Amino acid sequence: MKKRILSGIQPSGKAHLGNLIGAIENWVKLQDEYDCYFFIADLHALTTGYEKPKKLKEDIEELTIDLLAAGLDPEKCTIFKQSDIAEHSELHLLFSMITPLPWLERVPTYKSKINELKEKDLSTYGFLGYPVLQAADILIYKADFVPVGEDQLPHIELTREIARRFNYFYGETFVLPKDLLTSVPVLPGIDGRKMSKSYGNTIALSDSKDEIIKKVNQMITDPARVKKEDNGHPDVCTVFSYHKVFNKEKISAIEKECKAASRGCVACKKEFVELLLAYLAPIQARRAEIIKQKSIIKILDSGCGKARVIAAKTLNEAKLAMGL
Ligand code: TRP
Ligand code: SF4
Repeated sequence: MKKRILSGIQPSGKAHLGNLIGAIENWVKLQDEYDCYFFIADLHALTTGYEKPKKLKEDIEELTIDLLAAGLDPEKCTIFKQSDIAEHSELHLLFSMITPLPWLERVPTYKSKINELKEKDLSTYGFLGYPVLQAADILIYKADFVPVGEDQLPHIELTREIARRFNYFYGETFVLPKDLLTSVPVLPGIDGRKMSKSYGNTIALSDSKDEIIKKVNQMITDPARVKKEDNGHPDVCTVFSYHKVFNKEKISAIEKECKAASRGCVACKKEFVELLLAYLAPIQARRAEIIKQKSIIKILDSGCGKARVIAAKTLNEAKLAMGL
């Protein structure tokens, strides 16, 4: 029997290179080896975006297209939308009965997101319960492994704590999941900060050739390199971080040339942008094909059908264990 994997991604607009390199590419590899469940976390998106859900539908569709274009194959893995499976929400409610408030208040992402998204009122019940919903997502499939980035580790730990507490109160019901930490370099945005929609510094998978060239040209390089003759410091250069991912074989040569000032930033960017365009070309071609086929809804429906069988079974076990 294959081990089971579950992971989710929030629909916050089109997928960008950071999503692709950090998560989606990893999912594409995992689908060959594991029994994989991947979903669009639209309810999680509402915990912060509840005021303006108008774009949500479009965002879900775009993200699904991106996931498929990047190589997720509905023949190999189960792809679905969180809100299609009401069982997640019901298990979330059951877990809310047993989750102590201090467990939630001390989750690092709770305070950091409130600070980061100052323009939003996040003093809501739903936002505090974000990790409880995530625990329901994971535990309802009895997932063995959850591929996530480092920022999500506290959520996985909390998931295990909720599972332990449930099993302790009501008998062995849930499997304690393990994280599968994705050890990929974090891609900076074009301004050098973390790539994020909220910073407006992303490169989207669906950006046109011209947009991509423009964005790469805007990328921050080593600020100490005013003239080509100045020795470079690749460690602080955004373009260099990208070469590390897309130009691995040449990375030590680039580092040397930059430090010795025998490589200019214009040429360096040009080399990178060509690699990037070549890398994105097949993804963009698949994107166009998927849009033409209009098969998104069918794929999500069929994924929902498969996922629901497991979710309904687990929820039923949990209700029985709790005396319902
Ligand atoms: N919180 C995750 C993120 O922002 C998304 C998510 C929701 C998730 N439910 C999940 C990830 C379950 C893994 C498992 O990236
Ligand atoms: Fe960055 Fe390349 Fe310029 Fe060096 S040469 S500072 S790595 S863009």
